[in-house]
Order: sequence, then structure tokens, then C-alpha cells
Amino acid sequence: MNSHDRTVTAGSADRLIVFDTTLRDGEQSPGCGMQLAEKIRVAKALARLNVDVIEAGFPAASPGDLESVAAVAREIPEQVICALARCHQEDIELAWKAVQDAARPRIHVFLATSAIHREFKLGMAQAEIIRRTRESVMQAREFCNDVEFSPEDASRTELDFLASVVEEAIAAGASTINIPDTVGYSTPDEFGRIFQYLRENVRGIGKIVLSAHCHDDLGLAVANSMAAINAGARQVECTINGIGERAGNCALEEIVMAIKTRSDQTPVETQIETTQLCATSQIVASVTGSRVARNKAIVGENAFAHEAGIHQHGVLKHRATYEIMRAEDVGFETNRLVLGKHSGKHAIAHWAKARGFELTHAQLDKVTRQVKALADRKKTIYDADVVALITGETSDHVGRWELAELQVTCGTSATATSTAAVRDRTNGQVRREAAIGDGPVDATFKAVSRAVGSQASLDNFTVRSVTVGEDAQGEVTLEVQDDGHIRKGRGVSTNIIEASALATVDVINRIERANEQFEAPLPDAANVSAAHAWAASMTTTQTPPPQASGEGAMHTPAP
Ligand code: KIV
Ligand code: ZN
Repeated sequence: MNSHDRTVTAGSADRLIVFDTTLRDGEQSPGCGMQLAEKIRVAKALARLNVDVIEAGFPAASPGDLESVAAVAREIPEQVICALARCHQEDIELAWKAVQDAARPRIHVFLATSAIHREFKLGMAQAEIIRRTRESVMQAREFCNDVEFSPEDASRTELDFLASVVEEAIAAGASTINIPDTVGYSTPDEFGRIFQYLRENVRGIGKIVLSAHCHDDLGLAVANSMAAINAGARQVECTINGIGERAGNCALEEIVMAIKTRSDQTPVETQIETTQLCATSQIVASVTGSRVARNKAIVGENAFAHEAGIHQHGVLKHRATYEIMRAEDVGFETNRLVLGKHSGKHAIAHWAKARGFELTHAQLDKVTRQVKALADRKKTIYDADVVALITGETSDHVGRWELAELQVTCGTSATATSTAAVRDRTNGQVRREAAIGDGPVDATFKAVSRAVGSQASLDNFTVRSVTVGEDAQGEVTLEVQDDGHIRKGRGVSTNIIEASALATVDVINRIERANEQFEAPLPDAANVSAAHAWAASMTTTQTPPPQASGEGAMHTPAP
């Protein structure tokens, strides 16, 4: 099988299909919502990483979701592009509508099977589940040859019933059967036994690809996925940085490196370009505003750092004493000097392209000016500094408002006062407001919000240094509450109060764009408004959409 052949052949014992669901399950986690241009950026990064399948979204959730899945389908030619659908006729039609232009489309239908979901969420008997599974898979197959079926909450489903549902889905034409541990309740031994049982008891199981989809509520998502692979799964569903519902999903970078590093324990290989792991992780972290913990496996800042003297000594003598992977194999580059005051546009464009950033002329002009300005403020410019500037320019941050001016006074005995001027790009007008606050960040947040007339309230504020040194740039991430949604904004500057003002402007632009997107009409889809309303609240609540059966809640709390 060559590196671009993504044909799924049953029984290809040593090839593991990597199914990335960062743009769907990952995006569902509170505060991780992405806008269209950001989703395309992530999708392109996933393509560079060489994942096999990109689950690009849940088109019935909102017009914006449908539009972004369709855009990913058009832009990404090599990967299988998958759309999620409940076992509902309209969902399946919308899923097809979204992926029909993909070179390799897939429809993924799901229906809960566990007793607790059947009784309390769906109000459906077993026979009804079997019927809906058969009809929905058959409907999806009318559109598309590549159909995946997931019995939601499979790990808490009676094994004999699970086997019957899976057998029905295979008979109806599903070519991938995904077994989700929806609430992250399973353990490695138990999860492995489920796969074993299905392989021994389901007719036709040898014709399809078995897949594992694990959540991390007990911190076992990667271990459970490994157990599934050892019991016959040949597709693994995962997300970059492990983002996802509640505690998240199986982290792509962890499962891929675990398989690669311990190939003696797991009889499969992936086609992931592992040197892209760190870059992809950074893109997802900056687009979602969800930072990676320093001690996060594989992509955390400390993952390859050796602080203790005894470790440093060992590593210097022979790196394998304390290192089980090579930092360069996951694309880890630390504190490398890159560009500076004398770097021209050409060099910056070249540098950016090598890291997967495609800049427009206007973006390139602006980033070049920013790099030069930064070089005046900062002794040393590192990779991460330039990535932070480019990310600010390219991740769809440009919106109606921009920061024009900022003045702040504060001290140990004085009340912090901030005066902010904000330019409205639509008409060039500058609005200026002053505010006092509980510290300079609070005063600045209030001044900027007042200038643009925003009611959003500040929930969370984090600042981290992008690189090292006393002149390092600070990256501020703000979380605000807007009409029941958590929204994030990001700003970078060597001055953290300015970074806070930039983050405030960014989050306000994001709120305005999210509202515009939600209000955009969706042709031919008037009858999915209940799902849309539910989807709009998905970032903060897990309440099922208002339907008679209650079907459609994608996750319920663990018992
Ligand atoms: O966790 C889950 O059950 C899911 C399904 C939709 C596959 O995300
Ligand atoms: Zn999930």
C-alpha cells in the first residue's frame, strides 16, 4: 500500500487507519469552537500529518458546521473526509450534502445502544434500535460507498445485543464499525474483550474494519485504544492534544508514538508523519485557545526536557538512558534562532511556508512589519515568537474591531485605569472609552468592551510566555461568557497588558463572527432548526435537542 493509498482493505493486519476527529468531537469541547478559516487551517495541518480520515464535523448541528465540512471536503484531496449524522433521514441527507464534493467521502452514522441510553435518552426498545440502524446505514449507502456505523455507548451495552446491532449494520452495508467508549468508563482488559467477543460472534465481521473511539474520563483513552488494537481494531479515532468532550478523547500524538515506540507490543503501523506532531499540536492549541500542559506527553514543553542533574548527566553520556523517543521525531524544535530585523518578506514567506503557513500578500506585509518591530523590542527572536505572530494574523482573527491605542495607569495604591481606543474597520471610526478596574487587565477588558458596546463578562485569564528570557512575548488567553457560550480570545505582545487588550478585541471579533455565522440562512434545511438550537448551546450544555424521543444527545454523563 503506498503512502497515499487510503483504501481500507479488511484484514490488512499491520496497517492502522488513523481517524482524526479534532474538528468534530474535539470541537465539541467547551471553549474549543472554531471558525471556518480555522477549521481549514487545522484540516490542512492534519493533511500534512498524513492522517487517513478527517471527521470534519456534524453538518446537522448548524449551517456553519455544514459549510465548514463542505469547505474541508473541497480543500483536502488526499484524506477521506467524514461527516457525522444521527440515524435521522435529514441528518444523513445533510451529511451527504456536506461531503459529496470530497474526493473520498464517508458518512458516519451513530445510534446509542446501551440500556441506559435506550431507556432514558431514546425511549426505544431493542427492536427499534436494530431497525433504525439498518434503515440509516442503508440510506447512507444510497449516497456513499464508505459508511461507518457507531453504536454509541457501546462499552456499556449488553454484549449479545451489541453483536446483533453490529451484525445488522454490516449486513446493511457499513464498511467500518466503530466501538465507542462514549463516557470513558471502560478499562483495557474489558475493552479488549469487547472486540474479541465481536470478532468471535458477529457474522461478516471479517469484511469490515473495526475501530476504537475512547474518551479519557478515567485517563484510560490511550490504554483502552491500545487494548482494542491488540484485540483486532484496525482504525483508531483520536484528536490532536486529546481535546474533546469532558476529559477529552484519545490523543493522536500519544497513540501514534506509543505504537511507534512500542512496535514490539502492538502489531500495527501508521502512516503518520510524526515530525509534524508538534506543529499540529501548536496549531490546534492556538486556534482553540486550549493550551497544552507543560508535562503533556509527546508535545508538552517538558516532554523532552531533562531538569534533574542526574538525568542530564545520563542523557549526555547516552541519550537512551532517559529518552525513549527522539525529540526530532515528533518535530520538537527548541529555542532555535530564526528570523530578525533584517529578514525580508521573501525569507519570512519561505520560513512560513516550510511550517505550513500560507500567507496572503497583506498578511505577509503585516507579519514582516511585526517581525521587524519585535526585533526592535526583543533581543532574540525564536521560532515560537514568529509562529505566535503568524497565528495571530492568519487564524481568522481579523474582524470588525482593531486596537488603535491603549494607556494604562496602575500601582500598589492607585486604582487601575485604562483608556482604550478601538477602530471600527467597517467605517474607520475610532471609539475611545476609559474604565477603572480591579487591576490593569480588568480595567483594560472593561475599557475595550465599553468602547465596542460588548456585554461579555470575563471568566478566565491566563498568560504564558511564548519563549524564554525577560523580554519574551506574553501570550494572553481570555475566556468570556457570552449569552451562555464560552468564547476564547488570544493576544500576543511583549507587553502583557497590550496582549490582554488584543485578546479582548479578538474575543469580541469572534463573538460577532459566531453570531453572524449562526444567523446565516441554510438553504433546504429549514427542518433541522431544533438540532441547530441544540448545537448552538453545545459549547456549554449537554442537553438533548428538543425532540420527542430525546435522541441526539451525543453524550450523557457517566453513571
Ligand atoms: O463518543 C461517542 O460515542 C461519539 C460517537 C458519536 C462516535 O463521539
Ligand atoms: Zn466521542
